[in-house]
Amino acid sequence: MSTSLDNRGAVDFKSIRPLINDTLPKLYIETYGCQMNVNDSEVVVSIMQNNGYSLTQDMTKADLILINTCSIRDNAEQRVWGRLDVFKQQKKKRSVLVGVIGCMAERLKNKLLEEDKVVDIVVGPDAYRDLPNLVHGAEGGQKGINVLLSREETYADLSPVRLDQNGVTAFVSIMRGCNKMCTYCVVPYTRGGERSRDPHTILREVQELADNGYKEVTLLGQNVDSYLWINPENQDEEVNFAALLDMAAKQNPTMRFRFSTSHPKDMTDEVLKVMAAHENICKYIHLPAQSGNTRMLKQMNRGYTREWYLDRIAAIRRYMPDCAISTDIIAGFCTESEEEHQDTLSLMEEVGYEFAYMFKYSERPNTKAQRTLADDVSDDVKTRRLNEIIELQNRLSLKSNQKDIGQVFEVLVEGTSKRSKEELFGRNSQNKVVVFPRKDYKIGDFVKVKINQASSATLKGESVE
Ligand code: SAH
Ligand code: SF4
Ligand code: F3S
Repeated sequence: MSTSLDNRGAVDFKSIRPLINDTLPKLYIETYGCQMNVNDSEVVVSIMQNNGYSLTQDMTKADLILINTCSIRDNAEQRVWGRLDVFKQQKKKRSVLVGVIGCMAERLKNKLLEEDKVVDIVVGPDAYRDLPNLVHGAEGGQKGINVLLSREETYADLSPVRLDQNGVTAFVSIMRGCNKMCTYCVVPYTRGGERSRDPHTILREVQELADNGYKEVTLLGQNVDSYLWINPENQDEEVNFAALLDMAAKQNPTMRFRFSTSHPKDMTDEVLKVMAAHENICKYIHLPAQSGNTRMLKQMNRGYTREWYLDRIAAIRRYMPDCAISTDIIAGFCTESEEEHQDTLSLMEEVGYEFAYMFKYSERPNTKAQRTLADDVSDDVKTRRLNEIIELQNRLSLKSNQKDIGQVFEVLVEGTSKRSKEELFGRNSQNKVVVFPRKDYKIGDFVKVKINQASSATLKGESVE
């Protein structure tokens, strides 16, 4: 495996901040779903900006409204339908084009054009380069759709226009799609097969962010541990995720790195060693368990058992005793019994997660679970189990945060606290939110903060420099 990367390939990183220009036609964009969708919207804005559009934050002034959508659970799609009703009101008042892009576009395809008169264009996650063309057609009254999935598209050469407000933290996609085929999940269908982005372009993008004052980069993929780039011109040159992380951390030693999402089946000790070796790689791993019961995990096609998962947790603790761990949990998956639900609670307790994203199982059309398993846990029982999971996690988060009282953490300042203008907030390496008095510090500073107060959601403290 080669870890040295030369600087080849021409990547044009010019427009890192949004272009606001009153004379150009205006794009308004809303984003739902995961971090990958947030980053995709930045790619979309870059494409539209290169084609003569400028960005507006005001929907009522837009010539083109795009909604980047999520299909992961039914309620995610319901929110989008709600927004389409709002856009319909806009359309009654004036001439404006509406486009649905992202995962729901991919899942529902033509249905979006047929069922909802408001939609002019439908574009799936691999077809964004075709957007200007489709918009042009729609301007001439021709509704358009492109939902082709690609085996190659990674938008590697495009420079995302950063839509974040802080100018400090940014997402960089390192791969697209997913091959895992968890039985409950729509992502393999909406995003297509897995492909890894050329590491040269990833490192270039990170460098560009550093040059523009960014202090933290989160490397994104549905399963970053299966990142594998093979040089098409030299099949012996391979870069896996551990190597990519190592190169990024070395290239920009003052940039802080995070990544998401890790997969329990694929996360290697090699990655953990690289994390432990670099101060600038955050000590935080999001390692979704989904369930603590081996039969459930098998039924979900997750590819690991409870014991395997706990072995991975033990490995994390071995290499990095101070590493924070978070998870995703699904409550009430098909045929889940009360004992199996208890296994999830006991797993959570055993790991002692710092944080968790917790969901009720939502059956998705055309997934393997929908086709072959009974969604037979009643909604009441799902809700009760989810509440137990949430309650437990609140306790675990509080316990973990209380242990931090008296400790000093380096915090990267991201903004002003919502509660008070006199306070700033940021995150520590463990991804915990820390609030402290502003003094003369500003956004983008690294500040040493001593913790003196903890709730289940936040740490509070005083700067000690
Ligand atoms: N690739 C990541 C996460 C992708 S989706 C991973 O595998 O961990 C984010 C989370 O949504 C999943 O981890 C899962 O907990 C949840 N999720 C996915 N499909 C779901 C469904 N049909 N119902 C409820 N939750 C779901
Ligand atoms: Fe979905 Fe599983 Fe892929 Fe995650 S790993 S995106 S849950 S199929
Ligand atoms: Fe949603 Fe698509 Fe992400 S379904 S979670 S936006 S990959």
